Amino acid sequence: MRRHAVAIIAGDGIGPEVIEAAIPVLDGAAAKHGFGLDLERLPYSATHYLKTRETLPEAAFRHLRDDVDAIFLGALGDPRVPGNEHARDILLGLRFRLDLYINFRPVRLLHPDLTPLRADRRTIDFVIFRENAEGVYLGRGRITGDEYVAEEVNTAKGVERIIRAAFEWARAHGRTRVTMSDKSNAVPAHLVWQQKFKAISQEYPAITPEHRYVDALALELVREPERFQVVVTNNLYGDILSDLGAGLVGGLGLAASANLHPGRAGLFEPVHGSAPPLAGKGVANPMAAVLTGALMFEQLGHAQAARDLERAVQQTIAAGVRTPDLGGKSTTREVAEAISAAL
Ligand code: NAD
Ligand code: IPM
Ligand code: MN
Repeated sequence: MRRHAVAIIAGDGIGPEVIEAAIPVLDGAAAKHGFGLDLERLPYSATHYLKTRETLPEAAFRHLRDDVDAIFLGALGDPRVPGNEHARDILLGLRFRLDLYINFRPVRLLHPDLTPLRADRRTIDFVIFRENAEGVYLGRGRITGDEYVAEEVNTAKGVERIIRAAFEWARAHGRTRVTMSDKSNAVPAHLVWQQKFKAISQEYPAITPEHRYVDALALELVREPERFQVVVTNNLYGDILSDLGAGLVGGLGLAASANLHPGRAGLFEPVHGSAPPLAGKGVANPMAAVLTGALMFEQLGHAQAARDLERAVQQTIAAGVRTPDLGGKSTTREVAEAISAAL
């Protein structure tokens, strides 16, 4: 039986709850589809940081880089660490240092009553390719006196590879349109997005390239989400648009993401954060974590198991077994158990 080494960083707030709820579901799906997971739980979190002053030790980083097939992460963020230092080192640190330049975030409506939009706006199925290794997230800049300066890094190589990833995915999945979004009318550095998009799109004649400034795209995603298939954008806009996308299809309790570099181990995390007000109450929706597990299975070469997990989540939603964020009364654990039963 094929086995995969998966490192778990449950993290803070609702992170540990959704991860612990999702693990038996993923184990069950793996067993059903003839493979196994060797799980290793790592302690890195706000609590660990406050106790030891350690965010992600170098040896742990090397272990994650060299020895595992995937990293499955809950969420990082804790009011006791207002500067978010541990999340910067662990989450952003892993994205940057493992060069996981693709942040893949699907937006799909799993049940018609989950969208706040009108009934004729209910075929929502697009993916966001968020650039994940550059942008303002690198934290370059300076603070001099009253001036707080943030620099946004857009390299030709970085922009080219995320745009290419979006087109490659579109081609492999039979999609016919790729929308690139920037703010090149106001930010001169975004001209590199225009140049690369124009050049790369010519290599994919079966795919229609289109461009939207990010402000206009935010509006259109709300007004006409069914038009969009693949959106490619920078790190910050991708962060914002992925929460907007989640809002179109039921909220953060359902939004999954994968941080990828083709050929390497990926980092898989729900789009949501640690939701401190919900922590410890047993009400967090574990579906985003389960659907994130599906993205992990897909990446590990188990597409059938991934589809099966998605179907089981969809069936559970349809059966009305839902946490309060989706209008239900079920607990984290009841939802996870219902997904397992649907498998
Ligand atoms: P958040 O995603 O944690 O929560 C926002 C709201 O969304 C919550 O209050 C809750 O109402 C809802 N929500 C989120 N996940 C849910 C779930 N699984 N089930 C039900 N409802 C859910 O965003 P925030 O409040 O802006 O951030 C809280 C902390 O999380 C901050 O420290 C932030 O930096 C961090 N954060 C971490 C990650 C990550 O680790 N990947 C992502 C986003 C935010
Ligand atoms: C996300 C989160 C992170 C980001 C935060 C916690 C740094 O919001 O994964 O979407 O901005 O990338
Ligand atoms: Mn975010």
